[in-house]
Amino acid sequence: MSIFSSVTQVPDDPILHLTIAFREDQRKEKVNLGVGVYKDKNLKTPRMEAVFRAEQEICRPDQPCPYLPIDGNSGYVNETAKLIFGEEIWNRVQDRVFGAQALGGTGALKIGADFLRQEISDRVFLSEPTWPNHIGIFRKSRFQLAFYPYYDMTEHRFDFEKMYGEIKNYNENDIVVLHTCCHNPSGRDLTPEQWDSLAELMEKKRLIPFFDCAYQGFVSNVNDDTYGIRRFTETNLPILVAVSHSKNFSLYNERVGAIYIFTNDKEEKVAVGKVVKSIIRATYSNPPFHGAAVVEKILLSPELKKLWTNELATYRNRIEDLRQTFIDRLRHSGARRDYSFLEGGTGFFLFTGMSKPEVDKIIEEYGIYMTGKGRINLCGLNESNMQYVVDAMVAVEGAQ
Ligand SMILES: Cc1ncc(COP(=O)(O)O)c(C=O)c1O
Repeated sequence: MSIFSSVTQVPDDPILHLTIAFREDQRKEKVNLGVGVYKDKNLKTPRMEAVFRAEQEICRPDQPCPYLPIDGNSGYVNETAKLIFGEEIWNRVQDRVFGAQALGGTGALKIGADFLRQEISDRVFLSEPTWPNHIGIFRKSRFQLAFYPYYDMTEHRFDFEKMYGEIKNYNENDIVVLHTCCHNPSGRDLTPEQWDSLAELMEKKRLIPFFDCAYQGFVSNVNDDTYGIRRFTETNLPILVAVSHSKNFSLYNERVGAIYIFTNDKEEKVAVGKVVKSIIRATYSNPPFHGAAVVEKILLSPELKKLWTNELATYRNRIEDLRQTFIDRLRHSGARRDYSFLEGGTGFFLFTGMSKPEVDKIIEEYGIYMTGKGRINLCGLNESNMQYVVDAMVAVEGAQ
C-alpha cells in the first residue's frame, strides 16, 4: 500500500474550484465573476504601461542574478512604506518600524502570522465573512481563530456597531485582522469616523491591529484609501501591515508584497527584524528580484509614478462605472428583489444578495460563475455580458 493512500482529504479551494469549472464549461456565453483579479473591458488582465516602461529600464542582457538580502530590496520597502503611510508619517516612524519585502500579500500575512504566533499570542480575530485565505493562513500558523461580526448577510449591510461591541470584549494582545479598504468579500469599508473610534477602542484595550492592504487605490486614491492605517499610527499600538501590489500594479504572478511591524524604538526594531528574518530564512530564504524592482522604479520616477497613478485611476473608474450600470440595469430589470442595498460599495467585490439555490442555478443553467454566497467580482462584467447576467439573475430569483 502506498504511504500516500491515507493522506488527509483536503477540500478544493472554492475559488480555484470555480475557475476550473469555468474553464471546463463549453458554453460560449459563460461568464466568470469568481476570481478576484482586475480585468479590462475585453476581460483581459492588462499589463500596465508604467510596468512595461519600468521593465525596459531594469532588464539588461548582462544583468547578474545574485541573491537579495533576506528582507529583500530596501529601496522598494522604503518606497512602498511612503505609499502606504504617506511620507510625513513614514519619516516620523521609520526608525521604529521593521519592514521586509514579502511574497505578495499572502506571503506578508504568513510571515506576520508566524511571527505573532511564535512571539506574542495564539488568538486571532477575523471579520465574518472574510477572504477565505485568512482562515487558511492563520490556521496553518496554528492560531485559535474567532470572528467578529462585519457584514450582515440578511440585512445586506456592514454593521459597525456590532463589530465594535464585539471587539470591546477582547483581551490585551488579541490580534484583530482588519481590511484596509475594499473589504473582501463584502466591498464595505469603515468610514474615517469609524476608524477613529476603532483606533481609540483598540488602543484602550491594547489589541494588536494586523492590517491587510491589498486594494490601495481602488476606492478614492492611494492616500485616502489607507486612512485606517494612518489613523492607527497615531496610537502607540504594535501595528502590523501586510501589503500586496498584485492588484494595484497588476503584477499578480510576480508576488510583490511587504510586511511592516511597528515597535517602540530602534532597539526593538532590530530585535523584531532579526526574528522576522529568521522566519523568512527558514521559509524561502530570500525574495525574488523582478517585481519589487519594477515597483521601486515606478515609485521613484515622478514620470512613471504619474503614469501609474493615471492607469490605476482608469481601473478604479471602470469598476465604478460597472457598479453603477449594474445597479441601474437591475433596477430596471423587473427584479422582485430590491437591489438598492448595492449602492455605496467599494472595490472589486459585492454580495448580490442571491441565495445558495439561486447561485447554484445561475451557474448550472446560465454558466455564470460566482462564489456560493453570491459574491461577484464586478471586473468580470462588460458591455457584452452585463445584460445577460442581469436577466439571468432575475430569471433565477426565488430558486429553491
Ligand atoms: C483581502 C486580500 N488580502 C490579500 C490578498 C493576497 O494578495 P496576493 O495575491 O498579493 O497574495 C488578496 C488577494 O486576493 C485579498 O483579496
